[in-house]
Amino acid sequence: MTIRQPVRTCIVGHLALKYLGGAIPPGVLNLHEKLRQIAAAYAGKKGATIPLLQKAQEEFGYLSEETISEIAGFLGLTKNEVYGIATFYAQFRFERQGEHTIKCCQGTACYVQGGHRIVEAVEDELELEVGETTTGDYKFSLEKVACFGSCALAPVMVVDKTVYGRLTPVKARQIVAEY
Ligand code: FES
Repeated sequence: MTIRQPVRTCIVGHLALKYLGGAIPPGVLNLHEKLRQIAAAYAGKKGATIPLLQKAQEEFGYLSEETISEIAGFLGLTKNEVYGIATFYAQFRFERQGEHTIKCCQGTACYVQGGHRIVEAVEDELELEVGETTTGDYKFSLEKVACFGSCALAPVMVVDKTVYGRLTPVKARQIVAEY
């Protein structure tokens, strides 16, 4: 496998967008070098794609078109080939995430306790539908999940790592409004 030099301006442009108006954290500036080192460790071998994608997502929060393009450059693959691999795995995201991630449980226990009304209340409060991942200000992402394993607290919603249970639509709206 040939390791090609990526186009550096792609990452610089991405960083400029992400940290527009703010200081770029020192570690982020090294992404290109980190990716290069990981890619070098896999030179001539199969299997570099997933670690590179994971590292990039860890660093940026999602895989932008520019990042995919850069990784493709490292691996000597086409962008479509890298997309084909990345989209096979549920762990990879392709849209910028909000500052806070709200996960509304739609498992059986939550659903019968009115979990669907919790989602509707949050969607209405944020003017965001599940499936769209972020509000326009990138403050929230909204997702549905099958079960958090906290069924005794149904219906349940998790914001980042905080679990909120025995919710009503009114309570869910209040919680979201306080972030
Ligand atoms: S079904 Fe919602 S936490 Fe289990």
